[in-house]
Amino acid sequence: MAIISIASTKGGVGKTSLAFSLAKDLGYRYATNDMSVALNKYRNARYYPNKIPLYPDTVYDFGGFESPHVEEILLQSDIILLPTTNDANSIMKSLVFIKKFREKTILVFANMLENPNDAVAIREKIHEHFPGMAFTYLRRTKLLKNALESGMSASELFESNNHTQHLYRQAYGEYHKILKLFTTDGEYFSK
Ligand SMILES: Nc1ncnc2c1ncn2[C@@H]1O[C@H](COP(=O)(O)OP(=O)(O)O)[C@@H](O)[C@H]1O
Ligand SMILES: [Mg+2]
Repeated sequence: MAIISIASTKGGVGKTSLAFSLAKDLGYRYATNDMSVALNKYRNARYYPNKIPLYPDTVYDFGGFESPHVEEILLQSDIILLPTTNDANSIMKSLVFIKKFREKTILVFANMLENPNDAVAIREKIHEHFPGMAFTYLRRTKLLKNALESGMSASELFESNNHTQHLYRQAYGEYHKILKLFTTDGEYFSK
């Protein structure tokens, strides 16, 4: 049982891509207040343009969170995943977000890294302001995009055949680290 919210004030940082794959891999509901292609790709995907209900075992994909309903769900979530790209604007917006929700468990997710080594510098920038903040990353990869387009989770796509296992090996390793946090014995797993 967990409520996972993926949120950011910045668009195009990978919320929908990650939310869809995580939801499908965890067997969770996917709920969003934002029209997204994920809605046509997953049986357990639901669109709530207005009042979005609170459910257990759900990954919420929030495009913008100005509404009090969205903020309420963020406050009720077990964890908020905060995707961030490697640019000053995105990192600054993430710092503002963390400050606003500092009472919550937040996992900063540096996404679309040209070089996975960039993760170190981004993490340091976050830790300058919020020491010890949980942090994870994913390189620039077609894994999530191709998974979503084909209606498969990242794990399903990766495991499809030898070619996909070869093609996505490194990116999948990074994705799997994130997925594992929510599965049995993972850091954010709760019964
Ligand atoms: N790790 C990644 N590497 C490269 N492209 C990515 C990555 N994650 C997401 N994308 C791409 O970035 C674009 C925006 O992602 P999306 O999930 O729609 O963001 P958001 O929901 O935050 O607006 C999409 O084309 C998606 O395929
Ligand atoms: Mg989106």
